[in-house]
Amino acid sequence: MQLSLANVLSGYNDRAPLSQASTIPAAWYTDRRIAEVERLSVFSKTWQLVARTEQVKTAGQFISTVVAGEPIIVVRGNDDVLRAFYNVCRHHAAAVVTQPCGQASLLHCPYHGWNYGLDGSLKGMPEFEGVENLVPIRVETWECFVFINLDENAAPLVEFLGGLVARVAPLGVSQLHYFDRRTYDIHCNWKVYVDNYLDGGYHVPHLHKGLNSVLDYKQYTIENEDRYCLQSSPMVASDADDTGAARKGDRAWYFWQYPNLMINCYEGYMDTNLVIPVDVDHCTVIFDFYFANTGDAHREYNEQSVNVGNRVQEEDLGICEDVQRGLKSRAYRAGRLSVRREGGEQLFHRLLAADLRNGVAHSCAAD
Ligand code: FES
Ligand SMILES: [Fe+2]
Repeated sequence: MQLSLANVLSGYNDRAPLSQASTIPAAWYTDRRIAEVERLSVFSKTWQLVARTEQVKTAGQFISTVVAGEPIIVVRGNDDVLRAFYNVCRHHAAAVVTQPCGQASLLHCPYHGWNYGLDGSLKGMPEFEGVENLVPIRVETWECFVFINLDENAAPLVEFLGGLVARVAPLGVSQLHYFDRRTYDIHCNWKVYVDNYLDGGYHVPHLHKGLNSVLDYKQYTIENEDRYCLQSSPMVASDADDTGAARKGDRAWYFWQYPNLMINCYEGYMDTNLVIPVDVDHCTVIFDFYFANTGDAHREYNEQSVNVGNRVQEEDLGICEDVQRGLKSRAYRAGRLSVRREGGEQLFHRLLAADLRNGVAHSCAAD
């Protein structure tokens, strides 16, 4: 017999102190109903990274993507205002913009040819003009990133990011230049990937020998605040393999912002990881790599560095897929957390539990 959603949600105690806490129950990683509540109550209500500011810098530049199953566009207007819209034609619901990014003077629907201005207003259709404009969405920027929020009542982006804003500011990430992207399709629930990231370096000595050689594992610190966790470690010089050349500086900075964004910084280097749920047991993770210098003279070094990031990612993938299989086993209900290392996971699970319970309470109230 299938448990009710309320019963599945009640299987997690978010008040237990870390030393007594369990992880969220295995069912939260495998139950399709939870994935749907997450789509509506987490991904449709939080600020989601959708682009880099340099992609929408001049009038007419646009990007299109999908957030929580909703097709969206972000476009810079002729008045220099950045706007976002649902990428859904008001005529018969076709996607108005079909390229992932580009530049246009009008947004032209390919189905029956309706045209919209860069401000979303329908053009040249006397019977509809001024009525059937594209439906707007909240859009804001922070550092070199563009975020949207499908919830029109959401608090502003800086409020959502909270202490992360001041913590990231000294690292000067907006001075770095975008270099390359890698996309990974992983056979695991999106939360398995986030949990793996937030285990306070616990898995690093076992799974990532190269990365481990440049981190001072014993000095690894974990800071939880608002909706972010910062894991940080002093760096040590290493010539064990190519990791030492590609990951330099005094400290490694690994930020996670609830629910699905990671920002990893070393000296002259950043990669962002965006974890996108596909269905209950698949996710896509997008890595964007940034460097201090992206001129031709630096290409080989940067490519080598991307390869190091790619190798670490490959080491994580197999484990995440194994964990997803294990979570479905009758032998497993929930796990425990290391007090020294896994406080970030507890923060994640608490924030998630609060959003899911809120979402279910509101949808019950609406029924
Ligand atoms: S659906 Fe866009 S013009 Fe018909
Ligand atoms: Fe890892």
